[in-house]
Amino acid sequence: MLENSILPEAIKSKLRTRFIGQRLIYYPSLTSTNDEAKREARQGAAEGTVIIAGEQTAGKGRIKRIWLSPEGSLAISVILYPSMVHLSSLIMLASLAVVFSIKAVTGLMPQIKWPNDILLNGRKVSGILIESEMRGSRVNYSIIGIGVNVNFRASGYPDIASIATSLSEEMGREVSLTDLVQQLLAEIERLYLALREGESLYEDWRDSLVTLGRRVQVTSGDSIYEGIAESVARDGALLLRQPGGQLTRIVAEDVTLRN
Ligand code: BTN
Repeated sequence: MLENSILPEAIKSKLRTRFIGQRLIYYPSLTSTNDEAKREARQGAAEGTVIIAGEQTAGKGRIKRIWLSPEGSLAISVILYPSMVHLSSLIMLASLAVVFSIKAVTGLMPQIKWPNDILLNGRKVSGILIESEMRGSRVNYSIIGIGVNVNFRASGYPDIASIATSLSEEMGREVSLTDLVQQLLAEIERLYLALREGESLYEDWRDSLVTLGRRVQVTSGDSIYEGIAESVARDGALLLRQPGGQLTRIVAEDVTLRN
């Protein structure tokens, strides 16, 4: 029988990583794993420290949105101390890690909606919130926060019913949270080490984007842009071809995108 709760000891016993998750702190309930990870990072927690919550009571999404994290979902944050040159690649790293681990554990084929929403059959199954603190040209810390709808019925929550799905809904059965966490941590470490060794994650990320070639509407602060999502730059920015022909570069921060 699958456990619909996260068992930290089970995760640790099968962990295949060198440093990501070697220190893993589990809370049955927490406001936000990202906030707790920030607190840990400010106190100098080791790189790769992982915070997991059984549920979040004030989960945070991008653009100050609320992220729903009931029991049966995965809420996880990883503390990294990347160099400045790798900062823009963390979006690619996190979304690819989620895509690869969902594929490995379920066989499902997720796609990425720029910049980092993970979709199954057009519905959101996972979201990523990366929060970094900089001092001058140095990165003090980066927190990669990942939420995955695993074993709960997204259709039972009116706020997200029409736009979200979960792994259990797509599979027609529950999915092991432990297996997913182990796979996710292994993928994050593999991609982070590759990045540090000078490899690019750009091509894989670009090729997983469902957005390219589509007509989209992008809201960035007070501005609304419409056009064809033509390409993405190596730093992750979206290149939008507007009706007048001009190519506009849109960076991911504070942006929503609609098909
Ligand atoms: C989004 O799509 O808007 C991003 C959602 C990110 C949610 C995760 S859950 C773990 C971590 N802790 C948080 O409070 N948020 C992120």
